[in-house]
Amino acid sequence: MAKTRAAITAVGAYLPSSVLDNKTLEQMVDTNDEWIVSRTGIQERRILKEPGRATAYMAIQAAQNLLEKTRLSAEDIELIIVATATADMPVVATAAQVITALGAKNAFGYDLQAACSGFLYGLSTASAYIESGRYQKVLLIGADMMSSIVDYEDRTTCILFGDGAGAVLLEPNSEGNGYIDEYLRSDGVGKLHLGIAAGGSLLPASTDTVAEKKHYIYQDGQVVFKFAVTHMADAAEQIMLRNQLTNSEVSYLVSHQANKRIIDATAKRMGIVEEKVLMNIERYGNTTAATIPLLLNDFEHLFKKGDNIVVSAFGAGFTWGAALLKWAYNSKD
Ligand code: UT7
Repeated sequence: MAKTRAAITAVGAYLPSSVLDNKTLEQMVDTNDEWIVSRTGIQERRILKEPGRATAYMAIQAAQNLLEKTRLSAEDIELIIVATATADMPVVATAAQVITALGAKNAFGYDLQAACSGFLYGLSTASAYIESGRYQKVLLIGADMMSSIVDYEDRTTCILFGDGAGAVLLEPNSEGNGYIDEYLRSDGVGKLHLGIAAGGSLLPASTDTVAEKKHYIYQDGQVVFKFAVTHMADAAEQIMLRNQLTNSEVSYLVSHQANKRIIDATAKRMGIVEEKVLMNIERYGNTTAATIPLLLNDFEHLFKKGDNIVVSAFGAGFTWGAALLKWAYNSKD
């Protein structure tokens, strides 16, 4: 019998209904549709606007969407991990809110913060629990309300980000499918180039930090771009080499959606054709921890049992990496 692996057995998603398109952004900052599309590939993003709703709300909706597609009850779930950089509140774990709202009374849960790599790192964490035999049903959610930390007067960041949530269920698989390999790395140099300066223990909130707009995300785009292109492509290439995968044996690239040009560079290094490069950045922008599960949800209908899916991400920290998933089911099953 093959080694027990952790396989994705269901997916779900939630996107707010409000659309922020490039034309609307043209009214807000000095930008234009042509610049945004040619530099990033983004045409529109979703924004969560209803007062009183934030990341936990989207995570709950994505989890409920997933549960509706399965025969599972929330009580069957043992662990819920929420990858997010925008928890509803500091200190309070988003996962606890999700557990209570779902009625997952036999589960415990916590948040995982690795910015745009949060979902990828979460796959590693969730898979380890399953491979060890400790838990059999783990819900991994990637959810971010980027609109809560974006300065809509800063044209260098406000055009990039959107809100959303995606969820996957991981269960044991003994057919050789599931989470096969990972190549994950981190480098603290990233704090100079991408992050939020205030509101943490280093620089707690004060009237000064608010006046200086230090609670918004900052990014040195060009530096981050260069790191992202180099490291994400390296990681994806490592995964192919370590698993002796040729470009024709890769079924799909499911990459973090930060910039179409970064994804194209990764695909080029892997030598894979355009049809295998899955993208929805044009509709949702960069939803941070939600990009990868949103792609899995949008393109689930394409996936067949045994497909080799390379997942890759790059984000603040810096955090980055790639993983190999052998898809475990035919979506029509
Ligand atoms: O997910 C987390 C990781 N994040 C990333 O992976 C993002 C990585 N970085 C990027 O994707 C790109 O660097 C950006 C999309 C953020 C920017 O694209 P770029 O091609 O690197 O542009 P740039 O920063 O070099 O700016 C080029 C020009 C500048 O003007 P000058 O100095 O050449 O006159 C900018 O001021 O474009 C200007 N610019 C804009 N123009 C119109 C910057 N933002 C805008 C804008 N609209 N929104």
